[in-house]
Amino acid sequence: MEEPVAGGALLDAVRVRLAETGAEPTPARVAAALRSQGRLLGDSAVLRVVEALRSELVGTGPLEPLLADPAVTDVLVTSPEEVWVDRGGGLERTRVRFTDAAAVRRLAQRLATSAGRRLDDARPWVDARLPDGTRLHAVLPPVAVGCTALSLRVVRPRAFGLAELMAAGTVPPGGDRLLRAMLDARLSFLVSGGTGSGKSTLLSSLLGLVGPQERIVLAEDSSELRPDHPHVVRLEARPANQEGVGRVGLRDLVRQALRMRPDRLVVGEVRGSEVTDLLIALNTGHEGGCCTLHANAAADVPARLEALAATAGLDRAALHSQLAAALDVIVHLVRDRAGCRRIAEIHVLERDGEGLVATVPAARWSADGFVAQRGRQRLERLCARGGVRG
Ligand SMILES: Nc1ncnc2c1ncn2[C@@H]1O[C@H](COP(=O)(O)OP(=O)(O)O)[C@@H](O)[C@H]1O
Ligand SMILES: [Mg+2]
Repeated sequence: MEEPVAGGALLDAVRVRLAETGAEPTPARVAAALRSQGRLLGDSAVLRVVEALRSELVGTGPLEPLLADPAVTDVLVTSPEEVWVDRGGGLERTRVRFTDAAAVRRLAQRLATSAGRRLDDARPWVDARLPDGTRLHAVLPPVAVGCTALSLRVVRPRAFGLAELMAAGTVPPGGDRLLRAMLDARLSFLVSGGTGSGKSTLLSSLLGLVGPQERIVLAEDSSELRPDHPHVVRLEARPANQEGVGRVGLRDLVRQALRMRPDRLVVGEVRGSEVTDLLIALNTGHEGGCCTLHANAAADVPARLEALAATAGLDRAALHSQLAAALDVIVHLVRDRAGCRRIAEIHVLERDGEGLVATVPAARWSADGFVAQRGRQRLERLCARGGVRG
């Protein structure tokens, strides 16, 4: 006969009991705690309670099997009955369930604690990196209506090699030659695309092409780039502590990185005033640097950078003059309807009569290889001469 399974209320009672004594949920202790609740359960039911409680205390609890799947990139919890994953082909709902909304909250809080951060009513959201590199985002109710909203983004420690990106169709046949030429010529480049279009992944792979004698210094809001390269220094921003001090922003990191003798200055994702520091660096002897930027089209990049530079007080004309001399190439990624990520276009930059920078397509993705566009000659000239400006 199937033994009764301990319900949410009973689990809670056991939890409270164990929390009072600060004890680990061993079978003997759980059985004792159950007895104290006037419940006698058989061995297997006790063990199930032990398992349920253990998985709350260690790891990611019920999400563990999802995160263990190497294909899973994102795990999203919207309610105790709604757990979603992305295995690379868009979101899918899973069968994983939490006992109740309180269990989701407890997991989020425990994960935040393991990242050395606080998550409570006074600070109802957290954006942090777990010790294994997984990125955690959580918002507690009532800000998240109904249930704690939990998002985990898995960082796979291994970078995709260029060959794998070609096999996946991200880089078209023969496209690796162009990318290698860009890297060899130490062109400064920006990888653009929408959220999840594979910008960071491509940037990481491209950094694997950097010569082994070069020193790469990474500045990131949340460390995720793992280039396959022998000489990488990784810097990560951090929020203010509970007293509101000690914040280290991306801008601080870029400034420090410049003093660390980088051959390649890399800003994981430009999303604020640090853009001005990066452009200045690229203009003052730090060519070969690179970054990613959220933009829906390569042609939108100058306007996006303008908006970011404005937050640092840099006006339009100044931004465009910096940009023209700082950046050589834009590599734009898209994620098509089937969920495949690919390099849609490669653009170069051109200044018009008024000194404003516009992007010019140089190559377009096709199943047979990159198709040359108007800016192709300029791109080839840049590759041949090595990051020549103007
Ligand atoms: N070319 C690709 N083919 C298959 N999966 C990819 C590819 N590029 C990225 N991914 C996966 O998609 C997810 C999002 O990629 P990421 O590089 O973080 O995107 P972005 O930086 O644009 O937000 C990652 O988990 C990554 O493993
Ligand atoms: Mg990214």
